[in-house]
Amino acid sequence: MEASMPKRKEPGKSLRIKVISMGNAEVGKSCIIKRYCEKRFVSKYLATIGIDYGVTKVQVRDREIKVNIFDMAGHPFFYEVRNEFYKDTQGVLLVYDVGQRDSFDALDAWLAEMKQDLGPHGNMENIVFAVCANKIDCTKHRCVDESEGRLWAESKGFLYFEISAQTGEGINEMFQTFYISIVDLCENGGKRPNTNSSASFTKEQADTIRRIRSSKDSWDMLGVKPGASRDEVNKAYRKLAVLLHPDKCVAPGSEDAFKAVVNARTALLKNIK
Ligand code: GTP
Ligand code: MG
Repeated sequence: MEASMPKRKEPGKSLRIKVISMGNAEVGKSCIIKRYCEKRFVSKYLATIGIDYGVTKVQVRDREIKVNIFDMAGHPFFYEVRNEFYKDTQGVLLVYDVGQRDSFDALDAWLAEMKQDLGPHGNMENIVFAVCANKIDCTKHRCVDESEGRLWAESKGFLYFEISAQTGEGINEMFQTFYISIVDLCENGGKRPNTNSSASFTKEQADTIRRIRSSKDSWDMLGVKPGASRDEVNKAYRKLAVLLHPDKCVAPGSEDAFKAVVNARTALLKNIK
């Protein structure tokens, strides 16, 4: 089903939008919404059963926005309940816990679930996605860093935010930008506004950074076979340096990837006659 546009969209008039929260159980979806709407935090985990629904009003520029929030349960058990709530959505809070890698790795599966439920004619291009890296207060347990999360989000043209429902850090800014983007989208005939960042680096750069991050040794990092010659190492290095040089590449994590490539080349050349 085609994601429909809200009914009234003349400038200055009120607007009704639907937003949903998505992400694994316990990543903090309900707490993020509670922090924003009720300005409080509950540390005890109370799993959402199926769907929680709430309405709030916000002001964006000269428009009053009535927001219908559908807070979804993350547990797989509730799939049957969730699947009828994906349609007619203008905004998605796509949440993961920076201390739980599984919850970050699961983001693609969440998008796939939504796509499947919207059906073959469903259009995810006219929905604003805000990727929320939550629980940044838990610095000791953090295992997904900012550049990795930002790279994933921005490669898809999604917004990215570092937040903590516990301390409130980043919450208001996130919702404000999220709502502004949804209003822009509605006023733009349902086209997602260009976030700039999505257009500022290529898929090849993003994929290369991800490959470098997950490489097992210096050979792997440069993409050469173990035992490769000096020439082969230098050739591979030059190709990566052109792709990732900080003057040329603004993809999140490119600076660290570039440094890692420089170090890998140095380490390999030391041992090649
Ligand atoms: P489901 O409803 O089961 O899908 O979970 P949920 O994603 O709604 O998680 P919920 O908001 O219920 O939070 C889960 C647990 O994480 C609770 O114990 C919260 O107190 C805790 N929590 C949520 N946000 C934060 C945060 O920013 N920092 C910390 N330290 N804990 C948080
Ligand atoms: Mg919940």
